[in-house]
Amino acid sequence: MNSARADAVTGGSRSARFLDWIDARFPLTKMLKEHATEYYAAKNFNVWYVFGVLAMVVLIIQLLTGIWLTMSYKPSAADAFASVEYIMRDVEWGWLIRYMHSTGASAFFIVVYLHMFRGMMYGSYKPPRELLWIIGMLIYLALMAEAFFGYLLPWGQMSYWGAQVIVSLFGAVPFVGDSLVEWIRGDFYISDITLNRFFALHVIAVPLALVMLVVVHILALHETGSLGPDGIEIKEKKGADGIPLDGVAFHPYLTAKDLVAIVVFLILFSGVIFFSPEMGGYFLEHANFEPANRLKTPEHIAPVWYFTPFYAILRAVPSKGLGALLMLLAIVALFLLPWLDRCRVKSIRYRGWTFKLALAIFAISFVALGYLGLMPATQTYVILARIFTGLYFAFFLFMPIYTRMEKTKPVPERVVWHE
Ligand code: HEM
Repeated sequence: MNSARADAVTGGSRSARFLDWIDARFPLTKMLKEHATEYYAAKNFNVWYVFGVLAMVVLIIQLLTGIWLTMSYKPSAADAFASVEYIMRDVEWGWLIRYMHSTGASAFFIVVYLHMFRGMMYGSYKPPRELLWIIGMLIYLALMAEAFFGYLLPWGQMSYWGAQVIVSLFGAVPFVGDSLVEWIRGDFYISDITLNRFFALHVIAVPLALVMLVVVHILALHETGSLGPDGIEIKEKKGADGIPLDGVAFHPYLTAKDLVAIVVFLILFSGVIFFSPEMGGYFLEHANFEPANRLKTPEHIAPVWYFTPFYAILRAVPSKGLGALLMLLAIVALFLLPWLDRCRVKSIRYRGWTFKLALAIFAISFVALGYLGLMPATQTYVILARIFTGLYFAFFLFMPIYTRMEKTKPVPERVVWHE
């Protein structure tokens, strides 16, 4: 019997039968349909919608390169610095793996900041997506913790003193501050013990939490559905076949679109890795090419760029306790966005000028604070940091007022398609 006849008799090709076998034991086809071929998203997704997928790509790059770095890295104060140099010089392709990982850290924050800003522009945090936003914020916290723990591992001067500054902030907690700092360090100063525990947290605890949070993030997204730049719930207008009229299937339509973004991203990513892996000291700080020295404080301590907006807020206030509190509030405020914004219209396309202006001021303040956090704390820079800290908080503090008064434009019934 030829194979076509055999298929006719047995009911399908070998691969189809294999799939049936799996489906009877695990809901593979069902899941692929639910999350890909029959998951519908607004047909007018623009470039702002690629950053979620890019964050996933970077997460995978970080996990893979991290595993390989761990194979040659030595988490001890005596060996750490030299083991990184060994990876850079002697391990085959070690330099590439390390540069991919260090560039990946900055790339992660670039795509996640853009992803979050998209959410703010198009009102993705508004009901019913509050939980999706909160999960996103938890991812952001985990990402900051991951970057902070990882930065101590090369055991350079900036690793050491950066960790010293941040860990000592916990000293501002009333009553238990000093004991808390000692407990975090596991010693009276940042030492081999601290390095060991940061290593454990960086290579397993936080990545595990990150991966689980990303899975929960996607599940929450697929429950509420994606919003799209018009801020219209496409589920509300379905055709006779039950498919949203303004939706397209995630696979193959949006996967094809995402693929273009991934290729462009990888070109830019490779450009940095091959031509400017230190990025002028922004991605890999110059002081970190010197081994950690407990007896020599660097002249100018600054965290990596993605933390500098918060660092500028910290330094804008003379009291360390208040500065640390403000820094914390700057992040807490983002968690509260779904409840601070009182406007019913979601997308910036149909919102009033007050919100547009406020969002622009917020974005400018965040970038300005990021710049100021990189600069030495001279008088002029501190005054500027105070002004931008004020503007940053004003965005959140007055939000319930200006969003309630907002004069919005009518939101169209259906998605507006721009060719
Ligand atoms: C590892 C980090 C992250 C990954 C891998 C990730 C992944 C994704 C993906 C794949 C999407 C759907 C595609 C898209 O809309 O871009 C999405 C949507 C979304 N994400 Fe994230 N995300 C991450 C971090 C965050 C953070 C930090 C926030 C906010 C604090 C956030 C909030 C949202 C929201 C609100 C949506 C829905 C957007 C809409 O439908 O309008 N995500 N995310």
